[in-house]
Amino acid sequence: MTDPITLTMRVPRVAPAAEPRHIGACTLVILGAGGDLTRRKLIPSLLHLLADGLLPDDLSLIGVGRERMTDQGFRDDLRSAVAGLSGPAGDGAIWERLAPRLYHVAGDLGAASTYEAINERLVAIEGQGGTERGRLFYLAIPPSVYPQAVEGLAKSGALPRRDARDARWARVIIEKPFGRSLDTAQALNKVVRAVVGEHQIYRIDHYLGKETVQNLLVFRFANSIFEPVWSRHHVHHVQITAAECLGVEHRAGYYEEAGVVRDMFQNHLLSLLCLTAMEPPSTFAADAVRDEKVKVLNAIRPMQGDDFSKFAVRGQYGAGTIDGGPVAGYREEERVAADSRTPTYAAIRFMIDNWRWQGVPFFLRSGKRLPRRATEIAIQFRQPPHLMFPLPKGETLAPNVIVIRVQPDEGLSLCFEIKIPGVGVRMTSARMEFGYDEAFGATDHDAYETLLLDCMVGDQTLFLRSDATEAAWRVVDPILGAWDADGAVTFPNYAAGAWGPAAADQLIARAGAAWRTP
Ligand code: BG6
Repeated sequence: MTDPITLTMRVPRVAPAAEPRHIGACTLVILGAGGDLTRRKLIPSLLHLLADGLLPDDLSLIGVGRERMTDQGFRDDLRSAVAGLSGPAGDGAIWERLAPRLYHVAGDLGAASTYEAINERLVAIEGQGGTERGRLFYLAIPPSVYPQAVEGLAKSGALPRRDARDARWARVIIEKPFGRSLDTAQALNKVVRAVVGEHQIYRIDHYLGKETVQNLLVFRFANSIFEPVWSRHHVHHVQITAAECLGVEHRAGYYEEAGVVRDMFQNHLLSLLCLTAMEPPSTFAADAVRDEKVKVLNAIRPMQGDDFSKFAVRGQYGAGTIDGGPVAGYREEERVAADSRTPTYAAIRFMIDNWRWQGVPFFLRSGKRLPRRATEIAIQFRQPPHLMFPLPKGETLAPNVIVIRVQPDEGLSLCFEIKIPGVGVRMTSARMEFGYDEAFGATDHDAYETLLLDCMVGDQTLFLRSDATEAAWRVVDPILGAWDADGAVTFPNYAAGAWGPAAADQLIARAGAAWRTP
């Protein structure tokens, strides 16, 4: 097949919007301030927001870590972590605006005294300002410590139960993984909800902060031409891919326990599926959107019997080649068991039992050490009911496809058939392209910027409600259980640099389809 002809959509060049929103004074407390997330994501995001004039001037930050250090020591440490970054995150002048407002509390998260020290610091900062301040707690700590941390914060008075409209709001951001099964997620929800209201809990899924993911809602619900075809009447199947070329890096300790389904499917991929499949909410209010998402999760058909062997494929990478260079297999990575059964790849078919999607398979796949990094949602449409143009022998008609590219190279494309000029009817495929960079210029905004800001203004739309996290575990738990009970698959079963195990191709081929190459 020849490459499709590409037509670029013309978009008036518009500067990216930075919607000014009122954010009251607040103190951000990061538990796990010495960790990777703080250095790689949270601090750079705050610096970006500061450079864009989106942070309140009186934001203060308390970092909580095990290591004893002074406030100045903490500032120096973070400065060296961000100094080499490009853009505002590495800009000395921006840094100088944030640095005086950084404080450090050292302590063990198992000790009540740590939480008391946090509360004392909060009270001291609040005493200086003279205005009412909100408190935002970010749990950037191992999930096993979440219950202890939430209870410790509540007992010390640092994290009080507060009304949604209170200017002295208190909110807590909980990183994934939110539990490791339905039972553990329910237990964690119980602990957190025993001390604060649901409106104070922000369960983060950083995929929901990605620009194109949010654009999916605009694409679907601010245009009237797509909605009529967005259903079983026209869609043949949906493919959602989150491919990574990286391996487990230095996170094997966590990943060995998690594996790809807990790491990527329970949260990110199911979130993408919900946004693709949900009904239009009547307002863009947090609960209206979240109600629709949870309905999709509840409508996913539970797998049973031989569904697991037919519709859920797992893989683990062996040694191979990425970007022309040799890379080790998963079992050879540092801190991975030599006989590890942890899957690093999965391809799963989900069916949604509702009027809109009955009979339309949703194929989701994600894996590490695949040939390239690409996340996309592809809606593949049915063939025309009757084709009056004769096709050359052996050729089939290319399907219409809408592709939403989440990363990299964010954008949208639409593939359709056109006539090749000349005598007689010969067809070829054209692709209409919309690229974010081309329309708005390259931006290096991170999903965490959107999400941090949303927490500060109290907008929960992009955060997971307790019922959604539990519903997502209800979907993946049986798959994890079936895999644990069945040791038949031999690992490794795909080479690093390949598009997953052969069984994944067979899975989608049964629906008369094939995986796209992003
Ligand atoms: C994280 C997972 O949530 O998402 C990682 O724990 C994964 O394993 C990462 O690499 C992917 O995020 P992104 O934004 O790079 O697609």
